[in-house]
Amino acid sequence: MRIGICNDHAGVEYKFKLIKMLQKRGIEVVNFGTDTEASVDYPDYAHRLAQAVEGGEVDLGIALCGTGNGMAMTLNKHQGIRAGLAWDKPIGELVAAHNNANVLVLPARFIPYRKASVIVRAWLDTPFEGGRHQKRIDKMPVQ
Ligand code: RB5
Repeated sequence: MRIGICNDHAGVEYKFKLIKMLQKRGIEVVNFGTDTEASVDYPDYAHRLAQAVEGGEVDLGIALCGTGNGMAMTLNKHQGIRAGLAWDKPIGELVAAHNNANVLVLPARFIPYRKASVIVRAWLDTPFEGGRHQKRIDKMPVQ
């Protein structure tokens, strides 16, 4: 399992903590930046992560910004991306079970780190249910 991770300046601290947590679980992590708190534009990092997921360089992605919305909006411009914003454990589970999100987006300025870590583990540990949810996902792309 290889996971790509990206963030803007609002997500740097949580990003490095999440990388450590994931590596402890034996997951390989590819860091797409940014690595400092200097102000940056989240689309520059979201597009890099989206391309890595779409191209198969990584299996899944995690993205962090202040609210999570800028990352989610940008990531979801890519046809091969289903980026889901989660701010609580049950949403982390449902974004895997129902939406089969291949990128998890976290609002770093609105949740404590511990919750971010719990959400990531819930998303990773929850299988996609398929069935009626697959039918709905099949209808997502703009024709
Ligand atoms: C950065 O100040 C902030 O706008 C960004 O992290 C994010 O919340 C955007 O959606």
